[in-house]
Amino acid sequence: VLRMSDLDLKGKRVLIREDLNVPVKDGKITSDVRIQASLPTIKLALEKGAKVMVMSHRGRPTEGVLTEKDSMQLIADYLDDLLDAPVRLVSEYLDGVDIEQGEVVVFENVRCNVGEKANDERLSKMYAELCDVFVNDAFGTAHRAQASTHGVAKFAPIACAGPLLAGELEALGKALDNPARPMVAIVGGSKVSTKLTVLESLSTVVDQLIVGGGIANTFIAATDKPVGKSLCEEDLIPEAKRLIEQAHAKGGEIPVPVDVVTGKEFAEDAAAETKSVDEVAEDDMIFDIGPQSAEHLAEVLKDAKTIVWNGPVGVFEFDQFGAGTEAISKAIAESDAFSIAGGGDTLAAVDKYGIKDKVSYISTGGGAFLEFLEGKELPAVAILEERAK
Ligand code: 3PG
Repeated sequence: VLRMSDLDLKGKRVLIREDLNVPVKDGKITSDVRIQASLPTIKLALEKGAKVMVMSHRGRPTEGVLTEKDSMQLIADYLDDLLDAPVRLVSEYLDGVDIEQGEVVVFENVRCNVGEKANDERLSKMYAELCDVFVNDAFGTAHRAQASTHGVAKFAPIACAGPLLAGELEALGKALDNPARPMVAIVGGSKVSTKLTVLESLSTVVDQLIVGGGIANTFIAATDKPVGKSLCEEDLIPEAKRLIEQAHAKGGEIPVPVDVVTGKEFAEDAAAETKSVDEVAEDDMIFDIGPQSAEHLAEVLKDAKTIVWNGPVGVFEFDQFGAGTEAISKAIAESDAFSIAGGGDTLAAVDKYGIKDKVSYISTGGGAFLEFLEGKELPAVAILEERAK
C-alpha cells in the first residue's frame, strides 16, 4: 500500500480516518490509547504542511441523529490539549470545509451520517471530494467496510495508509507470518463462541495455545472435570475437545488449568477460594486460574520467542481474581519474546499491572485485531492495496 510518510502533502487537503472510539465513563475518557496512537500521524501531516482534517466514529449511534453522548466534542478537546496546533470541531462538513494550514479540523461522528454503515457510494464520494489525499490510519475499524473506511478510499484522488495503520500491519505480520518459535498465544475472555474462529486459526500456527477466562471453563469441562455454576458453553464442549486433539496432532498443546480460584457470586467482595480443578463444587464459579496453573503458564511464556495476547485469564477487575492475569502480565514483561497485546480488556490489564512499556507492540484493535488473528482480510486495507496497484 501507499504510505502517507512517503507523500508530499504541502498545501494539500488531507483527510485522516482515525479510530478515536475511546471508552468514556461519566463524561471522562478512561483509556486514551487510541488518541495517543493517532498523534504521530496528525503531527506528521501538520509538519508536512497539510491542511488536516480528522474523522472518526464514536460508539454505535443511530444514523441521522446526533446527540451529545455520541459527539466527538470531548475527543476534539482532548486532542486540542495534546497538540500544539489549534483543534476545531465541525459538525457540518459534507458540503465542504474551510480550513487553514496549521490547524486541525475534527469532524463530528461519521456514524451519524446517513449511509456510513452501508458504505453508501454517494456519502463516500462526498468524503472523497473534501480531500486531495485520504489517509486511513484507523486500524481499529479496518474490519468494517463503511463509507469512511472503505468507500472514501475508493474515490479519493489518492488513498494511503497512515503510520499507525502501517505500523499495526507490520507488527502483526511479524508475529504471525513468520514467527520466531516457540510461539505462544493467550486467548482469554468470557466466551468460546466469540473466539472460536480465532482459537481455530491460532491452534494451527502456535506451539502452545493458552486459554483463560470463561473460555477455559469450556475446555475444563471438555476434559470431564466439574465446573459448577461457572460460565461454560455446553454446546461447544465438542469443539473444545476437537481443538485439544487438533493441537496434539500437530505437536502443540492447549494446557487446561490444574487449579482455579472460585467464588460463590460474581461480586467485587466475593470471597475467593483456591482449589484443584477436580474439587470445584456445584455452587462454585471459576473466576481465575490458580497459582500452580499460573506458574506453569509463566514457565511456558519464559521460553517463548513470540507471544500474542488477547483476553484476560480471570476476572481481574476484582483484585482477588486478578492473580492469574497479573502472573501472565509479569511473565510477558520479563520475557524477551516479541510480544503483542490487543483488545480493550487486555489493554486494561496491561495498564493495571503496569507492563505497557514491556510489551513489544500494543495494538489499538479490538475486533480488527481478532479478525487479523483469524486470518481474515481487512476490507479497509484491501481497498488500499487495490488502489496501490
Ligand atoms: C472498536 O472499538 O472495536 C472499533 O472502534 C470498531 O467499533 P465497532 O465494533 O462499533 O465497529
